[in-house]
This record gives sequence, structure tokens and C-alpha cells, in this order.
Amino acid sequence: MTPKAPQHGRNVAGFPQSGTAWETLKQEMLEFKELDHDWRGGRLPAYIYYFNDELVRVSSEAYSLYSVENALGEGKVFKSLTRMLDDISTMAFDLYNAPESAGMSFTSGGTEGLFEVVKTARKWHRTHRKSSGTLNVVAPVTAHAALDKAGEILDVEIIRTPLGPEYRGDTAAMADAITDDTILLFGSAPCFPYGVFDPTAELGRLALERDLWFHVDACWGGFVSPFAKQLGYPIPDWDFSVPGVTSISTDIHKFGFSAKGASLLIFRDVALKEYERFEFSGWPRGTYATPTFMGSRPAGAIASAWAVMRHLGFEGYLETTKAAMDATMGFIEGIDAIEGLRCLRPIGETNVYNFVSDDPGVDIMAVADVLQENGWFPGRMREPLAIQQGVNPVHLPIVDEYVRDVAAAVDYVRANKQAGTYREDSY
Ligand SMILES: Cc1ncc(COP(=O)(O)O)c(C=O)c1O
Repeated sequence: MTPKAPQHGRNVAGFPQSGTAWETLKQEMLEFKELDHDWRGGRLPAYIYYFNDELVRVSSEAYSLYSVENALGEGKVFKSLTRMLDDISTMAFDLYNAPESAGMSFTSGGTEGLFEVVKTARKWHRTHRKSSGTLNVVAPVTAHAALDKAGEILDVEIIRTPLGPEYRGDTAAMADAITDDTILLFGSAPCFPYGVFDPTAELGRLALERDLWFHVDACWGGFVSPFAKQLGYPIPDWDFSVPGVTSISTDIHKFGFSAKGASLLIFRDVALKEYERFEFSGWPRGTYATPTFMGSRPAGAIASAWAVMRHLGFEGYLETTKAAMDATMGFIEGIDAIEGLRCLRPIGETNVYNFVSDDPGVDIMAVADVLQENGWFPGRMREPLAIQQGVNPVHLPIVDEYVRDVAAAVDYVRANKQAGTYREDSY
């Protein structure tokens, strides 16, 4: 049965007078899914992170076991959540070479992690430094957009600096941008737009020289890089082994494969967590304190993260990473062989790549349009105009099919002189 196209507010008559049996609702939901892009078939370049159904079962059952508990009560009434968070931090500290002194906050995602680090560094700066004007963060232009969301909410200016060679942050340009009001230096490991690492070691040295907080955003690569390095890919040192790194954000709900709502903000020194904590007593109910932005928080996300990390272990993540990296390299090899197309370099630092057209007769956005008409959802990159793909293990079986479709789309666009336009609808 084909579900009706969604019409906001028109699918149900209003608030239901009586309830509906779960089996009926479940059936409806399964039919709703036909409205979505075919992510299991590898048609999406972002949004989902999938290895296999067994892992989904582990994650979902763990989440269900804790779908009612509330992480707001962690440490007070839900000691089991504290137990799981302790385990998650032990595993993460080990993975990222964190020192004994390290501390961790469990956040809802990369966006909350970036919000929290800007808020925490702002409070640290206000406590320990004098400042004259609007506080700022200095970051390469490739820093994730969520950094500007944090800046807007927290009234902190985000100074985005131009890139050096190979799409990496330029340490000299960042050094020039630092002012007395700089609260944080920012680097990505790797950045999402180009999938390359900023120069973490250089930025760490700069941070130490200028006595500044240095945050490394590993939200995309935190559960890829340690394993890709082991597999022989050219991954630079980027974690707490690098002097000067103050904090790291890493998403378990991306290539850690947990349910959404799971990310870590890790501090080199647990004492910094005190600047993150929110506490308020000016209301009748008494002191209210939270470690992060959210109040009530999904305990299920913690349970899912704990379960998948333990279920996969280092060897499991080697397998998931190998599949994602094999697919990435397969796409790049296939697309580079298509006349007129070229994948941007460097490659091999993570499972994101971009391809451009060097042939004036092949408009890359027209290629994207043709792919989209054929059921693929192309990631459209603006600078340079390119098709970007974040690669999952789920892409491995369809590499050849995709490359064939790209080649056919290029032939079509060239033969028909089809023009395309960049559209802001692909992220
Ligand atoms: C490098 C990086 N930072 C932050 C984020 C934001 O993460 P989230 O979507 O979990 O909020 C992303 C998302 O892709 C990312 O790639």
C-alpha cells in the first residue's frame, strides 16, 4: 500500500478521542518509511550511520531498556547510569590517550558539545581573564556550522580564518586573528566539508604559546580515526597525545553507531567541568544543577552508547571502519576514472570525499540533478562546486552501481549540454 504524501496537520482529524492499537500504529509507521530516501540501499550521503541489523538490535534493545529512565537523575536515583557513564569515560579516555586528570560530559550530539565547550571556555575566561569587548573563538572557515550556532546563542564572535594548503586550517592566519578577547582556538579532526585534519600539533603549540584553550572537534571522525590509523591510513596525531589539546568532542551517534543523542565532550582536566556546570537556587524548589544544556535527558542514549561500544570493541570498530574506508576508496577510484571528473585531494584521512568536474561541458550540479532524479541524494558542496559524500559501511555493496550511475549522468549532461544550479538543500 502506498502511503499518502505528507500534508502537515491533515493526516489525522485532530486530537484522537480514543486510542489506537500499537500493532495498527506500527504498521502505519512502517508504511511512513516508504516516504523516506532509501538509506539502506546506500542512497544517502549523510544523516545515517549504519553497519548491520545486529548492531541496530543491540542499540535499540539497550535504548528500550532505558527509555523511561531520565538521565537528569543520574548520580542521584539512577546509579546504573553513573555506572555506564563511568565505563564510557574509561573506554573513551583510553581511545583518545586522555591523562588520568581527564573528565567527560555526555551530550546529545556534536552541536551540544560545541555549545558546551564555547559556554565553558567563556565562563573560564570571564573567571580568570580580563576582557574588554565581545569574546571570540578563532577557527578555520571549515569549522562545523554548529560553532556559529553556539556563538549566536552565547554572544561570542566566531572568527573564521582562511585555509592553508590542502584545505587545512592555517596556523599563521589563526595566530593573526587572536585578540585579548579570544576564549578558544578551534580545530577539526577532520573537518566535515573536505574530510581533512587541521594541523592539530601546530595549533596545540600555538595554544600553549598564547596560553589559550584549544578544542578539537572530532565529531565526525572520533570513531573512525583511531581505527583507520590502525588500518594504515594517513591519520595524523590529533587527540590528547598532542600537547596543548584542552578538550575533544566526539560523536558516538555517528560512526560509534549508537542511537542518536550520544556524544562526548572530554576535558584534559576534570576541573574544567566545574565551568560547564549550571546551578540555580533562586526559585522555590531549591537548588537545580545540570552538567550540560539539557534538563531531562534520554537515558536510552547512554545505554545505547554503552552497549554498542562494548559490543563492538576495538576489533568491531576496525571492521566497521574498514568497510567505510574501503567504500570511500572504491568510490574515489571509480570516479577518478570517469573522464572529466576528479576527486579532491588529499584523500584517505576519513570517509568523506568530494568530486568536481574539470570539463567545462559537464556541469557538476547538472550531474547532481540527474543522480537525484535517479533516486540518489547527492550532497551538494558550494566551494568548490562539487558532489560530496559521507561514506558508510552501507555503501560498500553499491560502490560499482553508484560509479556506473555517475558515469551515465556525466554522459547525459555532456550530450544534452544540461545546466544545473547549486541548491542549498542537501545537508
Ligand atoms: C565535524 C562535525 N562537528 C559537529 C557536527 C554536528 O554534529 P550533530 O549533528 O551531532 O549535532 C558534525 C556533524 O556532521 C560534524 O561533522
